[in-house]
Amino acid sequence: MKTRMMRISDSEDVRDEELREAARILRTGGLVAFPTETVYGLGANALDEKAAGKIYAAKGRPSDNPLIAHISSIEELKPLVREIPEVGRQLAKAFWPGPLTLIFPKSGRVPYGTTGGLDTVAVRMPGMAVARRLIALAGVPVAAPSANLSGRPSPTTAQHVWQDMEGKIDLILDGGPVGIGVESTIVDVSGEIPVLLRPGAITIEMLEEIAGSVEIDPALTGRLDPQVRPKAPGMKYRHYAPRAEMTLVEGKAEAVVREIRRLTDEQLMAGRRVGILCTEETREQYPRGILRCVGARSDEETIAHNLFAVLREFDDLQVDCIYSESFSQNHLGYAIMNRMQKAAGYRMISAR
Ligand code: TXA
Ligand code: MG
Repeated sequence: MKTRMMRISDSEDVRDEELREAARILRTGGLVAFPTETVYGLGANALDEKAAGKIYAAKGRPSDNPLIAHISSIEELKPLVREIPEVGRQLAKAFWPGPLTLIFPKSGRVPYGTTGGLDTVAVRMPGMAVARRLIALAGVPVAAPSANLSGRPSPTTAQHVWQDMEGKIDLILDGGPVGIGVESTIVDVSGEIPVLLRPGAITIEMLEEIAGSVEIDPALTGRLDPQVRPKAPGMKYRHYAPRAEMTLVEGKAEAVVREIRRLTDEQLMAGRRVGILCTEETREQYPRGILRCVGARSDEETIAHNLFAVLREFDDLQVDCIYSESFSQNHLGYAIMNRMQKAAGYRMISAR
């Protein structure tokens, strides 16, 4: 298949004529990658099992891993769900459009091919105007996982999508680099108490302000027992992962730098290429290794924005191993560290 790439204007300035062709492809069962405020999505008609099936094939994604249905207005929620629990209604009202995905009991209209066989459906109304307008023009809810090959870091630019999807999908809409850089927060509102399944830019503090108390899925608190099935099936796979073996180093700043320098020298002696993921504060302190800086420690927005691009760069640079500093788990830091721990396969050492 020949994949086309089409540049579109930025989010503030939506032009329907730029989106018509993409909307037509979606409506007729094809695949279109498009920007959202979190990461690029790989879209298909969520009500068409065959179209959804093409997503799994293009990504190499296990078919038990359900897709998120994207909508463009709140009226489009009702036909997809069996009921809208009160807490779901409140969270949608507070954070949609935006980087929040809610899990509801699904209606008969949503095929099991979209939900990975589950009786629930994940729904999100993206914050980026271009994405909402595309969905509206398509006239169908759009199933869209992140537009990466399964297991690779999520794409935050159209070029990342091209690297992974060229030859496999019909069209890529290039709307420039995304804003947030980590995927949406996922909250299951299908039970008694809302449960956080994946941290994102809508933080626990923000959720609790609206929903009262929010439970945290046990799958988030550490390496998964292979016997335990996480509620978000996608969270069980090694994810966001660069090809190199990545190790997170935690502890006091000077101790972390010292330990990463020691480990780097050890690996260089063994003839390996070493990547170091560092911060503005520490970048001058590593004399050897291939350095990539994700931003200043206090600026979590920038770190989230750069993280996946930096992991992909290490792939392009063909490093054999990556040593990374670690970050506080507060606010957006929780989502950042969640993705980094998964990228590292939970390989974490403490520096003293
Ligand atoms: O920010 C985002 O959410 C991006 C953009 C494109 O919208 N999409 C995204 O999709 O990250 P994906 O497929 O890469 O991640 C969806 C996650 C997976 O971990 C999946 O298992 C979980 O959502 N999920 C989907 N439907 C679910 C359901 N019914 N119950 C529990 N988890 C679900
Ligand atoms: Mg994904």
